[in-house]
Amino acid sequence: MALPFELVGRDQPGQVGGAWSGDGWGEASGRCCGSVAGRLAGSWWTIAGKIHGPRLTWPAARDYALPVAERILAFYERDGLNVRTYDQRVEQDIAGTSVEGDVAFYIEEAKRSPGPVLELGCGTGRVAWALAAAGAEVVGLDLSRPMLDRAEAKRVDVPAEVAARMHFQRGDMIDFTLDRRFGLVLIPYRAFQALTDPHDQRRCLAAIRRHLAAGGRLILDLFDPRLNLLAPGRAAPSSPDRGSARDPLSGRTVTMEVVSREVDVRAQCFHEVWRFTELDDHGEAARHEDDRLTLRWAYRWEMRYLLELSGYLIEAEYSDFHRSPPAYGNEQVYVARVAPAR
Ligand SMILES: C[S@@+](CC[C@H](N)C(=O)[O-])C[C@H]1O[C@@H](n2cnc3c(N)ncnc32)[C@H](O)[C@@H]1O
Repeated sequence: MALPFELVGRDQPGQVGGAWSGDGWGEASGRCCGSVAGRLAGSWWTIAGKIHGPRLTWPAARDYALPVAERILAFYERDGLNVRTYDQRVEQDIAGTSVEGDVAFYIEEAKRSPGPVLELGCGTGRVAWALAAAGAEVVGLDLSRPMLDRAEAKRVDVPAEVAARMHFQRGDMIDFTLDRRFGLVLIPYRAFQALTDPHDQRRCLAAIRRHLAAGGRLILDLFDPRLNLLAPGRAAPSSPDRGSARDPLSGRTVTMEVVSREVDVRAQCFHEVWRFTELDDHGEAARHEDDRLTLRWAYRWEMRYLLELSGYLIEAEYSDFHRSPPAYGNEQVYVARVAPAR
């Protein structure tokens, strides 16, 4: 199997393409055939990982030695600095943007919807717990065990009746089967864009349809692509410095930066490597973790057709959570229901 992948060295970031093969837990080996500076050029290396179809995951707990390169995991895959600082980072990232006010918006919509709410890609429960506190019965589904663990950890901080309304479940939004139907299904904060294959997007929308009660609605939030940020190839990240947060486990400061960005226009995806650096008591870098973020952008008309062809009728469309009309470069917020059979 040939997969594009990226290695970021301690002091020499570089992009390589490798042809490699392997299966199950164990070792796969490959020959560097891309252009990467320094010691990696033209050399052989071993790489440990697990391949499921098109996905690559890494054994989280075992310490495989990867010569030269740092191990890069997918966003939210590792129980590490990214996941532990998620709530603080998102609060900072959202402030003053077109995502601001999303939680209040979802609460308002949940109050208009009879029946339980399903949040797909619920993460640490930022939205889900707020909905439960507002009186909704909520099921939160997410692929990431570390994110779900953070969400579950919040249970002890809420009143018992709120905790009783909240259920978290591990699962893939591409295809899931739950034993109930919902009055409202949400995919907040661009989680739908983690589905990088349009076929998976359609499967996800089909699975949601199967779980909507009669008259139930779907709310989807994506960013509206800014074309000036989507020039093909590698480019300097437009906002590399992503601020800092405090790791609740160690109490230490964690700085966040985007160290590389590549745009694949054909696939409508961008790949970014985010570096989370833990600082020691002297403010020096003690260690870092690199996580890869891959998102697929969609154009407004693409989403309109995708929803229509997946059997939905768009009821409302906004560019932010204050219900502003569609606008370039902000959010794409869709409120949709199942279209009546013709
Ligand atoms: C940006 S976070 C959003 C978390 C939460 N909804 C919020 O608004 O704070 C995206 C979440 O989507 C989850 N996710 C990505 N792909 C997924 C999939 N195929 N199925 C379920 N969850 C997925 C990630 O694990 C992550 O927790």
